[in-house]
Amino acid sequence: MTDIKEILFSEEEIREKCIELGKKISSDYDGEIVVVGILKGAVPFMAELIKRIENPVVMDFMDVSSYAGSTTSGEVRILKDLEFRIEGRDVLIVEDIIDTGLTLSYLIEILKKRGAKSIEICTFLTKTARRRKNVDVKYVGYEVEDYFVVGYGMDYNEKYRNLPYIGILDESVYK
Ligand code: IMP
Ligand code: MG
Repeated sequence: MTDIKEILFSEEEIREKCIELGKKISSDYDGEIVVVGILKGAVPFMAELIKRIENPVVMDFMDVSSYAGSTTSGEVRILKDLEFRIEGRDVLIVEDIIDTGLTLSYLIEILKKRGAKSIEICTFLTKTARRRKNVDVKYVGYEVEDYFVVGYGMDYNEKYRNLPYIGILDESVYK
């Protein structure tokens, strides 16, 4: 596709990484895990990851949006909340990519108040150089430089989420 400047992670590399992460998660947990996907970007990753987790898994989703004009606070509006109570349960949040960390740090504060037994994060990508709020991320697929990436759930104006690989978006698309 001409909108993609360079492919960073192929379908095969992504698959291998999900197997590796699933193994780690399976050996770290005893019993059931409530796996929470952050809509919509985490959907392809979550679908592949949970197939590699050997523990019983309960799937749930959250959808959040940052308040316009308050991007510095990282305060988020919950558009869709969890279906299940998480009190006393092991929660694993699944994200496509962590950028500034603002969204996730705010979300974690909210979820902590609900009394989960544990809350951990699994993200496919992380842009550590852009972090503004520190978040403890236990499971990371890959670290990437400050490119704008799309595919495998990640979008630009809602496009490209369906690409089976992850690529750098060509600047001509947004300039
Ligand atoms: P932050 O960590 O609060 O800055 O926001 C992270 C969210 O921004 C991710 O879950 C993505 O939805 C979106 N995002 C950040 N960087 C990218 C990118 O390079 N491509 C597509 N979406 C991105
Ligand atoms: Mg996201």
